[in-house]
Amino acid sequence: MTRSTDTGINRNLTSYGDPEFSKYIRRAFLAAAGYDGEDVDRPIIGIASTASDYNPCHGHMPDLIEAVKRGVFEGGGLPFVFPTLSLNEIFFSPTTMLFRNLLSMETEELITAQPMDAVVLMGGCDKTVPAQLMAAASANIPAVQVVSGAMRTGSWQGERLGACTDCRRYWAQFRAGELSDEQIEGVTQSLCSTPGTCMVMGTASTMASVVETLGLMVSGGATPLSGTGDRLRVGVRSGRMAVAIARAEHRPVQLLTRASFLNALTVLHALGGSTNAIVHLLAIARRAGTRLTLEDMHDVSQQVPLLVDCKPAGVGYMEDFHEAGGVPALLKALEPLLDCSVPTITGQSLGDYLKTVEPPQSWQSTIRTLDDPLGETGALIVVRGNLAPDGAVLKVAAASPELLAHRGPAVVFDSAGDASARIDDPSLNITPDHVMILRNAGPVGDGFPEAGSLPIPKYLAQKGVKDMVRISDARMSGTSYGTVVLHCSPEAATGGPLAFVRDGDMVELNAGERRIDLLVDAAELARRREAFVPAPIPERGWRHLYAKCVLPAHLGADLDFL
Ligand code: FES
Repeated sequence: MTRSTDTGINRNLTSYGDPEFSKYIRRAFLAAAGYDGEDVDRPIIGIASTASDYNPCHGHMPDLIEAVKRGVFEGGGLPFVFPTLSLNEIFFSPTTMLFRNLLSMETEELITAQPMDAVVLMGGCDKTVPAQLMAAASANIPAVQVVSGAMRTGSWQGERLGACTDCRRYWAQFRAGELSDEQIEGVTQSLCSTPGTCMVMGTASTMASVVETLGLMVSGGATPLSGTGDRLRVGVRSGRMAVAIARAEHRPVQLLTRASFLNALTVLHALGGSTNAIVHLLAIARRAGTRLTLEDMHDVSQQVPLLVDCKPAGVGYMEDFHEAGGVPALLKALEPLLDCSVPTITGQSLGDYLKTVEPPQSWQSTIRTLDDPLGETGALIVVRGNLAPDGAVLKVAAASPELLAHRGPAVVFDSAGDASARIDDPSLNITPDHVMILRNAGPVGDGFPEAGSLPIPKYLAQKGVKDMVRISDARMSGTSYGTVVLHCSPEAATGGPLAFVRDGDMVELNAGERRIDLLVDAAELARRREAFVPAPIPERGWRHLYAKCVLPAHLGADLDFL
């Protein structure tokens, strides 16, 4: 692509065969919008908005955008807000993951097709931030990420609670008959007390913290809650920062180095963060042309203990993490494990920045230190075996220790719909020893939904069974817990080994040996493989393009041509 060397409003000119005419006509149309020459000669800062009535996680975004615009004006720039697709986890079928790459493509094209010297990426809910970062890496113009911020915690019958780890816990209790209809309605009205992103260490909170670590956010920008003055001040600072990096021409790819990704993985593990962040980091690194693999994720995990006490790995919430010092204090605690030569968004090195940051203070207990960690190293591991030759992910910190070495008979569900239709059917005779297999829920199979943490069958839940081994090519929500092996690659829909499992086959998980195996002899597996017929892919539209071009989970599930 040929890019204009002009700046500001003269960037990315409309092609009329006469560049001077293109500039003139732009000024004429902007004059109609009330902008004079002094306005349009400023650095132009695009603001990519994902505000939508369908997205309560971004409910305060209009106010936040006004704060960013004020910062841009104060910095001497001219802000232009442009709308993009908004992805909310709760409102998209079958899953927002099917649309992450679409938002990414759209954002990249809008950044490169319109005049802007820098872009402020306004996201928050799980897929919005990774999509925007993928776009920023590909477009490679100066970029600063702003997130909408987490919700405040709610309270029900005296218990502090929040989305969505507590959503799942109470729903499991309701399924087990421990909560009445009236009680679950009371919980429903109390879980999400304000607009904002989920306030546990789910994917949104994890990605916000990871982006601050990568240096694409102003310091302290990840954790202020939605709708607070603190959050608005982050918006103002980000607007000013956008003008500064536009002038300095700091580009995302300068920040997205292998060293900064390894730092981001260090933070991910110290947070006890979401497994989804692994897929997103692989995709962002690929866009930036930076080498990063699943093995890097595993290797870093072995070095980093859990330091942050937030659900689902701990007991606290994002407001606790924020009050305890947020990402800056965590980075200070992790300093010996970080590459401090990497640049931050200001151009200053991480090491120089951390000289100005206080370590975690003794009055708080949410951010621990390396000398006094909350949990062991190795909270997230990569397992392989004949069920996942290219790897699968297991969040050991969220699993039941007694199930980490387990052998049991398979019970197979052919899709998320099949599982929801049959899982509670007592005639399946599922026992706590069974290994529940969900297949055709990978990127090609079903857009990669968060269906991997299958519910415990009702008749077992009512007997007090809380966890079972579950294996799938799906993802799971960052707020989930259980002994759940995810992202098996290659996926069943493309002929991956999950496609060949049959009810009653013995399956073995051995987390200590990083193995996940189907205990069926090779000749029988070869016979089953020969009979495999791939399911047809959707015939038209985005779903056709996605299914044809999406890469496997272990490569980040981006489209192969992006
Ligand atoms: Fe939007 Fe959890 S549903 S962040």
